[in-house]
Formats: sequence, C-alpha cells, structure tokens
Amino acid sequence: MCGITGYIGYREAYPIIINGLKRLEYRGYDSAGIILYDGKEMKMSKTKGKVANLEKKIEKNITKTGTIGFGHTRWATHGVPNDVNSHPHYSESENLAIIHNGIIENYDTIKKELISRGYTFKSDTDTEVLINLIEEVKKQENVKLGKAVQIALNQVVGAYAIVVFDKTHPNELVVAKLGSPIAIGIGKDNKEFFIASDASPFIEYTKNAIYLEDEEVAVIKVGKSVKVRKIKDDSIVDSKVLQLQLNLDQIEKGGYDHFMLKEIYEQPKAIIDTYRGRLLANEGIIRMAGVDDNIQRFLNADRIIIVACGTSWHAGLVAEYLFEDIARIPVEVEYGSEFRYRNPIITNKDIVISISQSGETADTLAAVKMAREKGAFVFGVCNVVGSSIARETDAGAYTHAGPEIGVASTKAFTTQITVLSLIALKLGLAKGNLSKSAYQNYLHQMELIPNKVEALLNINDKVKHIASIYKDAKNFLYLGRGFNFPVALEGALKLKEISYIHAEGYPAAEMKHGPIALIDENMPIVVIATKKGHYEKVVSNIQEIKARKGKIIAVVTEGDTTVKEIADHTIEIPETEEAFTPLLTTIPLQLLSYHIAVMLEKNVDQPRNLAKSVTVE
Ligand code: AGP
Repeated sequence: MCGITGYIGYREAYPIIINGLKRLEYRGYDSAGIILYDGKEMKMSKTKGKVANLEKKIEKNITKTGTIGFGHTRWATHGVPNDVNSHPHYSESENLAIIHNGIIENYDTIKKELISRGYTFKSDTDTEVLINLIEEVKKQENVKLGKAVQIALNQVVGAYAIVVFDKTHPNELVVAKLGSPIAIGIGKDNKEFFIASDASPFIEYTKNAIYLEDEEVAVIKVGKSVKVRKIKDDSIVDSKVLQLQLNLDQIEKGGYDHFMLKEIYEQPKAIIDTYRGRLLANEGIIRMAGVDDNIQRFLNADRIIIVACGTSWHAGLVAEYLFEDIARIPVEVEYGSEFRYRNPIITNKDIVISISQSGETADTLAAVKMAREKGAFVFGVCNVVGSSIARETDAGAYTHAGPEIGVASTKAFTTQITVLSLIALKLGLAKGNLSKSAYQNYLHQMELIPNKVEALLNINDKVKHIASIYKDAKNFLYLGRGFNFPVALEGALKLKEISYIHAEGYPAAEMKHGPIALIDENMPIVVIATKKGHYEKVVSNIQEIKARKGKIIAVVTEGDTTVKEIADHTIEIPETEEAFTPLLTTIPLQLLSYHIAVMLEKNVDQPRNLAKSVTVE
C-alpha cells in the first residue's frame, strides 16, 4: 500500500529518490519522507501530505547531499497520517533507520516487550516498533545489521517490504520482503543499486532487476553482488536477474491530462500486447504455456473458482459467463476477502484462477495461499511481472497491459477479459464444445477487437457532452444483462471511485425488484442494450424506466433504431460476438466516469481514500 525507494552508489541520491517517490505515489500518498546519508550524518525529512509537500519541507530543513538514501510515500495502516507517523523511522539510538511497506500484525506485543526493556516511541506506527526490535536484537546478539534484521523478522507476523540502514556501517543497505513487493535495480558492475516497490523509479538507470521472493533478506553493498538469504533458515538464495521491458515513456503520462485517460486510450495496444504470441488466428491456434502445460488439469477440472477484488472481480464475473457458455465448465466467482475466511470446500479437482492487476492485493494473495494449502491448482492472471500473486501461483498468464498508474482500473479490466476469453476458447475447443469453425470465427473476431476499440474511442466528445449534462446528479443506476451485467457493475464502480457520486450496477431485469423505486426525473440510468443478449428484454426495461421519467443513457449496437426512439442519449458500439461485447461496452462507461470526475475537479488518478494496490486487509 505504500511506495518505497532507495539508492546506494556513486550518484547524488536525492534526485533519484524524490523522482522515484513521485512515480510511486499511486501506491499511497497521505504522507512522505526521505533519509540521506552524506558520509557523516543521516538527514531525515518527512511530512504529512504528498511528495510535493516533502520537497518544500526539505528545502527548509536538510541539505540534499549524500550518495545513500531512501524514501517512502505512505498509505496509512497504523497511526493517522501526520508528520511523526510518516516514514522513515529512527531507532531509539538513531543509529538505525527504516522505511516499510506492509503491516506488522503482532507489533503490539513486541512494543510492550520493548517498552519493558526501556524503549520509548515517538509514533503510533508498527514500523517504529520493528526498527527498535532490530536494534534490540543487534545489541543482544552483537550481530551485524543483516543478521539482526533476519532474526527480528523471524519474530514478526505480518507483511513487509523494508529498507534498513545502520549509520555505524554505512556502506550497505539491508532489504527484506514478505507480502509486499521489492525490486532491486542492479547498476553496471554493481557500482550502484536501486530499491523500489516497482521498477518505475529506476528504469532509466538500469533494466536489470531482482525481485525478492517472500521471506528473503538481502544485504546490498556497493561493488559487491546482492547477497540474498532465506529469513527462516539462512540458506543462500541464487536470485534471478530479470531483464525488464518497462521504459520510461510507458510511465509518464504521454501527453494526456491524466494517467487514467492515457490508459483508456492504451487499450487497443494493451489488448494486442496481451494476445500477441498467443492468438494465432491464421493458424487457428491459441498458444498459452500456462494452460498448455496443464491442459489435462483444466479439462478434468470439476470447477473453476475465480478469486479477485474490485474491478478484477468484475472481470471474473465476465469470465464466469465465458467459461460456462464456451467451455461448459462450472464457475464460481469469489471476493478474495470473503473466500479467505470462509473455510471453503476445495479439492484437487478444482482450479482456482486469481485475477489481480497489481499482483499484490492482500485479500487475493491470501485466498491464493489458502487455496494452494487446500490442494487446488492455482492459475494467476496478473499484470505485474514478478508480483507476489504471480509468484505464488502454480501457473499463469500475464496481461501485458503495461503499468497501470491511474488508481481506477481500465486497461487491466479489458486485458484480463482478453486473457480469460482466450482460455475459455482454448478449453471450449479442447472439450469439444466448440466446433472448429465457431472457434476460428471467435479467433478472427478477437483479432478485430483492438481496431473496434480504437474506432469506438471516437465517441469521446459525445460522452463528454453527456457527462456535462449529468455531472451534478447525486445517484446513477447502471443496468446490463448476461455478459454485460458485470460491465454494469464495473461502470458503477468507475463512477463511484473517481467522481464520488453514488452509483449502483444491477442486472437489468432485477430493477423491478426494488431499484425501480429510485427512478425519477433526477436519476440518470446507464443501460447496456446491445443487439445480442436478451435485447428485447432490455428494451422493455428501458420502457419501464421511461415511464418513470428516468434519464436514459443507452449503450447500443451500431445501427440500432429502436432504442434511439426511447432513450435520451445513445452511444453506439461496433458489432461483435456477444461474448466479446464487454471489451467494447466498458469503454463508454470508462469515459463517462472520467469526464464527470474531471468536470467535478476530482483527483482522477489518485482519488481520495484509495490506493492503487491494496496490500493490507
Ligand atoms: C478498480 O478501479 C480499483 N482500483 C480496485 O477495485 C481494484 O480493482 C482492486 O483493488 C483490485 O486490485 P488488483 O486488480 O490489483 O488486485
């Protein structure tokens, strides 16, 4: 939930760290802080608020010199957002300093023990407890920092990605990971190292990186290689150095006003990147190693259980229609947070598919771990290479959407549906539920989707006009049927999370069982009424709304004349297979929420109370 970044090497650390923090703000931004070591002293500055506030404060209170340093941008879990609870934190002696992303669940017990040993605390954070535990271990065991961190973490329950520094041994940084991500960027000839929650802070300096695995601690010394050990048994780990594909312009806004808009417009490319190398329409093949290598498991599965949260959960609902309709495999879709505590019945004939853009969502990760403990085969659909969920699963398929910086998920949703559609088609053919010709048609139709999305994005101005009419509405209703019921839920979520307007998604027919009481002339209702998928039924739902003076914004298939007669506004989408309509119907809903939020002057990319990756419960 927080962003951490650090540097040790020959350059001035400040600009690297402060720019890195800006790129990590999507992970949390209620407070920020930095430490720099200039060979003589540790200089710390930290504050409530965004990185921009930190920059102002630094001007007043520390010099920016030093070739070692680390910084933190926070999303509070323990202790309200304020200066003293911001990271970094010193130990009691002020010889040690730490930044931490995660949550120490047994911090209270440890704190009491440390207090009984004479420790005092300035903040309410679990992190300050951790750095004092490390200090106490270091003193009692008379060991170096790396060992002290390792011993201390064996006493800790929770999640962490930490960077720890000891000014009495200033030629190294110690990092450790459990449940929250840490990437270590490796500079040329080991002359410099970068540490961060993801690669964005250091990608312009190096594309070589190690992603720590859970329960690993690393000692990073300039001029030496990174020494990684298992925290539990001290065994040496031979970490793989990955060649990263990210580049800087993928990170920056690319000329758009917001990351969210950039990412909405990136969807044609993201969908292509996601099916590239997998969808070989001319050869009539879908090639997915994670599925191919486990095809019997998929074909013999009694059931597919999908676990996810938020938008990814909505993608899971679309997948339920895809797998049951095309592959004829029973599917259950579960919220990660419910599934992990429900003691569900899972057998080794179940396949669990976890969907997560960040690959770090705590509830989804915990659900995956539990499913594996119960013997299920777990398949991951993640967007971040090397993420915790990706590395926790037995197999998987990445969505190659590129970094999704806007907190509101957009291209993650459409690329998740792309991956899940390919899997459903592959299994449908393999199980004999899909004829070769139907299969081939689907492949061809999928190949046409990016261009259809591209063309559809031309509705932007029309949607912006509609947004200007309804931006002050207090409530919205989103209705859809079949494959587009989950899209109605997703459209409502998008509006809620960035414009703060209350919105609900419902199956269109369900409106009669209560929500219709809400409808009056002040209520805009977005209805997905595409040609395929119970069209006539949706038209009668629209008439019921009209009769109650609701304002109807209808998403229809190009050429529709019937709905045009009834609705207040119609947005046309290109024709496609019913199963693929979510890839198109979601686009106008993304744009509608974006424009309303911009007109209401909301913080579109970093909405209040939200963070991009919910790595705590
Ligand atoms: C969606 O716009 C939100 N950002 C949120 O619901 C998100 O989808 C959810 O937190 C799951 O995140 P994940 O895909 O990274 O696991």
